[in-house]
Order: sequence, then structure tokens, then C-alpha cells
Amino acid sequence: MDTIKVGVFAGSLRKKAFSKAVANYLMEILPDWMEPELLDIGKLPLYCQDYDEEGLVPEEYVLFRNIVREKQAFLFVTPEYNRSVPAALKNALDVGSRPYGQSVWAAKPGAIVSVSPSAIGGFGANHHLRQPMVFLDIYLMQQPECYLGNIESALEDGVVTSERTQKFLANYASHFSKWVKRFVN
Ligand code: FNR
Repeated sequence: MDTIKVGVFAGSLRKKAFSKAVANYLMEILPDWMEPELLDIGKLPLYCQDYDEEGLVPEEYVLFRNIVREKQAFLFVTPEYNRSVPAALKNALDVGSRPYGQSVWAAKPGAIVSVSPSAIGGFGANHHLRQPMVFLDIYLMQQPECYLGNIESALEDGVVTSERTQKFLANYASHFSKWVKRFVN
């Protein structure tokens, strides 16, 4: 099977982000035919429509759009901010969605993992992230869902060491790879 390029997004800009730790773990356990890359969303200026309409597109937008356009699938690992999606991640979605008609997201498979130190596991962020993805036409995996609560207990020094979480994520990664296979050759 040809290699499939997977764009991986962590919704946090924090150096020691739990979401990055989980994203890194998932990237390690995806099958060999998937080529995951964690993409930086932290340097994107806040989206302003004038940039596109007045021909003043920031270099960061050009690079980001070109990189994401090449990806064939997406994996989003997000924390929850105030029961919703962190602004940095929503901004990245917006940047990639424009200019109108040139979205880099459309018609590609994806999946969402939410992560939180609290018990609810980022449910609010997980489901808020699903809303723009309907419009962006990202084919989201519905099952299994992944809300990782009490995440600190699953990590040691930024690495997923809990066997229970590893097993859960292995199952999730397996389903994700099967989901992606449905859409790519
Ligand atoms: C949070 N946090 C948080 N946690 C949660 O489970 N639900 C929430 O609604 C919020 N809201 C929230 C708002 C803001 C502005 C911050 C900075 C934090 C706590 C959050 O889960 C915690 O800081 C995580 O460590 C953030 O994820 P990363 O950076 O570790 O990936």
C-alpha cells in the first residue's frame, strides 16, 4: 500500500502539552504505511479576510496551506478551553479554509481525540471541533470516540506509560487506520 501522509494537529501551544504527548504517542503506533507529521499551528497570525482579499497573504499562511494541502488524512488531538476548542486550533482551521473555494481540508478523512486532566476528557472541545468539520467536509471517524480524561495519570515525563491508555490508543489507532483506508488507495 502506498504511504499516506497524515497531518497531525495538537490544539495546544504549551511546551509540555498533554495533547502533544498523546499526539506523539499516536504517531508512533500508527501503521508503517501512514506517514504522520505534527504540524505547527502556533505561528499562524490570527485569520483576517483582508489578507486574502488584498493580496497580502502572510508567508505563514502560504506555507501552512501548502503543507496541509499535501496531507491525505488528519488527526486532531485537542485539549479543552472553556468547554470548547482552543483558539489556535480554530484559527488553523480557518486559515486552511480560505480563500473561498480553495480549502485544504475538504474530502479527506480525519479523527478527533480530546485530552484533559479533568474527568470529562474534553468532551466539549471534541464535539465543538466536529461542528466546523461538517462544513469543512472532513470525513470524521464517528466510532470509537476518544475522550481521554485524567490524562496526567497516564503520562510520565510527557510519555504515555499507562498500559490501559496504551491499549485504548492502540485500538483507536487501528480503527483510525481502517477508516483512512476507506478513502485512499
Ligand atoms: C483550561 N483547562 C480546561 N480543562 C478542561 O477539561 N475543560 C475546560 O473547559 C478547560 N478550560 C481551560 C481554559 C483555559 C484558557 C486553559 C488555559 C485551560 C485546563 C486544560 O485542560 C489544561 O490546562 C491542559 O493542560 C491543557 O492542555 P495541554 O496544554 O496540556 O495539551
